[in-house]
Amino acid sequence: MWRCASRAFSIQSKNAASPGSIRRLFSVQSNRGSPQYTVVDHTYDAVVVGAGGAGLRAAIGLSEHGFNTACITKLFPTRSHTVAAQGGINAALGNMTEDDWRWHMYDTVKGSDWLGDQDAIQYMCREAPKAVIELENYGLPFSRTEEGKIYQRAFGGQSLDFGKGGQAYRCACAADRTGHALLHTLYGQAMKHNTQFFVEYFALDLLMSKDGSCQGVIALNMEDGTLHRFRAASTILATGGYGRAYFSATSAHTCTGDGNAMAARAGLPLEDLEFVQFHPTGIYGAGCLITEGSRGEGGILRNSEGERFMERYAPTAKDLASRDVVSRSMTMEIREGRGVGPLKDHIYLHLNHLPPEVLKERLPGISETAAIFAGVDVTKEPIPVLPTVHYNMGGIPTNHYGEVVTIRGDNPDHVIPGLFAAGEAACASVHGANRLGANSLLDIVVFGRACANRVAEISKPGEKQKPLENDSGEKTIAWLDKIRNSNGSLPTSSIRLKMQRVMQNNAAVFRTQETLEEGCQLIDQVWESFHDVKLTDRSLIWNSDLIETIELENLLINACITMHSAEARKESRGAHAREDFNKRDDQNWMKHTLGYWENEKVRLDYRPVHMNTLDDEVESFPPKARVY
Ligand code: FUM
Repeated sequence: MWRCASRAFSIQSKNAASPGSIRRLFSVQSNRGSPQYTVVDHTYDAVVVGAGGAGLRAAIGLSEHGFNTACITKLFPTRSHTVAAQGGINAALGNMTEDDWRWHMYDTVKGSDWLGDQDAIQYMCREAPKAVIELENYGLPFSRTEEGKIYQRAFGGQSLDFGKGGQAYRCACAADRTGHALLHTLYGQAMKHNTQFFVEYFALDLLMSKDGSCQGVIALNMEDGTLHRFRAASTILATGGYGRAYFSATSAHTCTGDGNAMAARAGLPLEDLEFVQFHPTGIYGAGCLITEGSRGEGGILRNSEGERFMERYAPTAKDLASRDVVSRSMTMEIREGRGVGPLKDHIYLHLNHLPPEVLKERLPGISETAAIFAGVDVTKEPIPVLPTVHYNMGGIPTNHYGEVVTIRGDNPDHVIPGLFAAGEAACASVHGANRLGANSLLDIVVFGRACANRVAEISKPGEKQKPLENDSGEKTIAWLDKIRNSNGSLPTSSIRLKMQRVMQNNAAVFRTQETLEEGCQLIDQVWESFHDVKLTDRSLIWNSDLIETIELENLLINACITMHSAEARKESRGAHAREDFNKRDDQNWMKHTLGYWENEKVRLDYRPVHMNTLDDEVESFPPKARVY
């Protein structure tokens, strides 16, 4: 849609004088005559897009290895969505009981419903204790045990001794504000290094060269409307998830899948987008997260009959079964008429039996959130909760080094030179079909660091880079100009609301062929309607109308691939629960979906799951029934 047929653009060199000889000034002419866009060129060894936990950890590592690094972020770093993470970070530290990273690995493979890549899962779980100790050394203020060790709480889907030893206490935390503590700690570390931050710069597109390698990104400085081409030997996408494709999500409004959409527009696939995690305890109506840590500290879900219904669905793990299991159980209770409230459409989370000092010390954040957003005093009353979209298991496919991969010929693991991804934007795939709580903060620090280490293994600081191709970024500028001048009949907000309702209704906790086929039709129609979008602000200075419209396009690309991938997958696995295909089908479907965005349509392909481990420190875990 945003092809530039009607307007001719070219980037012409206007002034090459610049400090440090890495900066050149260009202007872009439109066929309307006067210069319209100023383009500034930068060259770095590495560019990181996103300044949440994954982006910051990658940037710190790159700077430590001596790479001249730029970090581009649409938000001030400490406003990134990592700040909202509550419950903690998993690592087999063994502070509360004996523990072993192999037990953590087993739980993660099982939690993924055997869609996770076992080499990547091994890497993450084995690195976890080191990653947490590193955070402690960086200054993260972890909660402590009486003896002064890092406190670890129970979390969903975590067991000892390969599922045979009962509940594990593996989740290290800073009360219920772990993401906040982690993000500020990493930002402090990044400040110590020479990472150059470009704050409130919105990354628009990858700069791909004709040979298929990545040469950097083009970004818009939201403050003054200048465009910036960041040429870099290594580009790391750490842009987070796309929860805001849904109507009710724990994600910030900024979680719009920008990096995913950049990859898709560059012709790269997005992997396993059909797997969308519903967190069991979003506040009814408001959607704010109430941490799983509240159940880890002893919280209980009850239906309208006061029954602790999880005992029926997951007799061993009960309220601490994995998230997909708990969310489905809650939905079943509501469907069968045992929901609470006047409309019987939600569930109660009870914390009021817990000692007030536990609530004060371990769960102060959610006690406050429940008071503000649900009007509930958690020491006295239950919190009204509902499964709420929380996390995208899918994303940009990578190997366990963080290198972006795709299918090329017979090779399902072809590496895209120069391109990396980490965190929720990536699909390593350590979460497979369902992520375990507290494996996300772990993923971001382990794979942010892995990207930096890999860059250091395969390149050197200051290495010569080939020049950008003459037309590099021109299509993006034409696309931006077309969006900015959109003069249709539909405001961005109305298209966004339609998309969110379709996703909420048709790609929900439970899915059927009927709802998904209808969902495909409806989401394709929403995409079509985007051709008729209308912007009212044409300026380039803090144009939130423009930014929200670009974010909407990004969300729509993610939403379309999610719906079509879900419709195609005829089985139930992890968070993808089909009522018409209610069993996991390993024979036909133990494979990763790859969704491509081609000519404004979704094309699907598949690549195998890695069942191998990295070495003989652990054997892979063969598939079996997943019960809690
Ligand atoms: O429930 C929570 O605190 C969320 C944690 C997570 O998603 O990892």
